Amino acid sequence: MSRQVVMRDRQAGHAPTGLAQLLLRGVLAGTMIAHGLRHARTLDGTSGWFGSIGFRRPRLQAQLSAAVEVGAGTALAGGVATPLAASAVVGTMAVAYRSVHQPNGYFVTAEGWEYVGFISTAAIALAALGPGKFSVDRLLGLDGAGKPWQRAALAAGLGIGGAVAQLAAFWQRPQPKAAESAPTADSEGRARRLRCRGRHRHGIDSARRDGADYFAQRCGRLPPASGTHRRRRRRRTRRDALMIRTRFTEMFGVDTPISCGGMTGLGTAELISAVANAGALGFLTALTQPTPAALAKEIARTRELTDRPFGVNLTILPTINPVPYDEYRAVIIESGITIVETAGSSPKPHLPDFRRAGVRVIHKATSVRHALSAARTGVDAISIDGFECAGHPGEDDISGLILIPAAVARLSIPVIASGGIATGAGLVAALALGADAVNMGTRFMATTEAPIHENVKEQIVANDERDTVLVFRSLHNTARVARNSISEEIAQILSRPGATFEDVAHLASGTRGRTNVLGTGDMEDGMWWAGMTQGLITYVGTCEAVVSNIMTEAEQIISSRLPGLMEGRHGH
Ligand SMILES: Cc1cc2nc3c(=O)[nH]c(=O)nc-3n(C[C@H](O)[C@H](O)[C@H](O)COP(=O)(O)O)c2cc1C
Repeated sequence: MSRQVVMRDRQAGHAPTGLAQLLLRGVLAGTMIAHGLRHARTLDGTSGWFGSIGFRRPRLQAQLSAAVEVGAGTALAGGVATPLAASAVVGTMAVAYRSVHQPNGYFVTAEGWEYVGFISTAAIALAALGPGKFSVDRLLGLDGAGKPWQRAALAAGLGIGGAVAQLAAFWQRPQPKAAESAPTADSEGRARRLRCRGRHRHGIDSARRDGADYFAQRCGRLPPASGTHRRRRRRRTRRDALMIRTRFTEMFGVDTPISCGGMTGLGTAELISAVANAGALGFLTALTQPTPAALAKEIARTRELTDRPFGVNLTILPTINPVPYDEYRAVIIESGITIVETAGSSPKPHLPDFRRAGVRVIHKATSVRHALSAARTGVDAISIDGFECAGHPGEDDISGLILIPAAVARLSIPVIASGGIATGAGLVAALALGADAVNMGTRFMATTEAPIHENVKEQIVANDERDTVLVFRSLHNTARVARNSISEEIAQILSRPGATFEDVAHLASGTRGRTNVLGTGDMEDGMWWAGMTQGLITYVGTCEAVVSNIMTEAEQIISSRLPGLMEGRHGH
């Protein structure tokens, strides 16, 4: 290095060697580019996440963040316009600080702001130092512009200013879910309206709208997937998914240990193909179709929309009008379905035919004793529903925290934890309890593709964990349904001595709930099923966003929070 250059370096406040700056630029550039590429590759998941943390126009935010991160990273790598590139880093980190990390405290293991603090400080330091001699700025003679403190102030000021502007224009912190008001019809309605308004204010609508756009464009009203489209979808899903491998993913050939249980009225081609394309395992509900022939058509329609695995749910319940179960079973087999979820009565009468046809059977149970007896009949896996679940939780009132490990301890076949799960934390907890996968119902109701009225999805987001009612307790056929004036009336009538199902049949009719509530969105004109997870569901998004967000959160917990706790780094 010539004497003049060294003198110029000293005057401009640079260290005589560019090695330190090169290292600093390299690590900042690598981090920014890696984040930007990840956001760009998982654009749907990223936009769902932006929506869930309170950003309006979440898809635009996702695109912008990917572009800014890759752009700033590339500029830093080359040492181009270094103070400006550093300001983009500071801005990105400041937005992340305010919208996500600030309330979590300092430590990164608890999603605190340690990481964003370090990155932005390093970027400001780099602006002050200058890019060093291995940089485009140096080649152009721009690296000495301004004094070090001025360059640092420019990076910090521009970055923080940009972040403030972005947050002011697009962001409002989502409110924690409001507690329910006293259960009078008036006050409840008011509380719900307020909660709904809160949700509108805080951008969840836009997440839903963006999801709807995506749905319309990508899978929505639903253009048959060509071979190329299907391959692209599959490649995208596989690349994006965190590879948590369990006996469930291996046995059923899916990317994630997540299933969408059979849901009467919802388990149709639109929802189940979207679940499958998201890398999870969904189940068409056989009895949603009026006849076995209609089920055959629905299976064919689903195949048009996905080439990923999906199954059929066969819920076997005593009914007034006999259901041709054998014919439904025959259609399932003839249609080449290889995964079946059975529920209700014992699957025993159906197993020989399923076995012969090579169909794998998951049986849903609500107690360890029923799970064991199903296992003895030869089913391949057990899906065990805790007391929190939507639908029939059984009569033992045992929560998943006990039921899952109790079942795992007694069963040698894979166990799927069901009921009360809607988040990545729930998935990790279920895996920790020994389950091989999770099954969700209510979470998938609040998706763009769920074929139900938007009011229902909005109500789920607005509701909290107390917005369910147990009905039919006295009839020993307990069902957990969403709280509304109808379900409260049913519970109240059935609590009277001697009350029978006939006393509530007009209120509890499944057809009324499906037509009036799920179909036309009149939330007080029928009984509809939903679980306690309503208290955890904060946005309506595409199935792909929901699955991807759950996997991302699970990844964060497994790879960062839990190891951090082992090292004594607790952030709470
Ligand atoms: C609207 C709705 C309809 C359902 N219908 C059925 C059904 O027909 N058969 C069945 O086995 N389970 C049914 N379920 C239960 C789900 O498959 C799943 O086990 C349950 O929702 C899990 O609890 P979660 O809602 O807390 O995730 C239904 C659930 C909901 C929310």
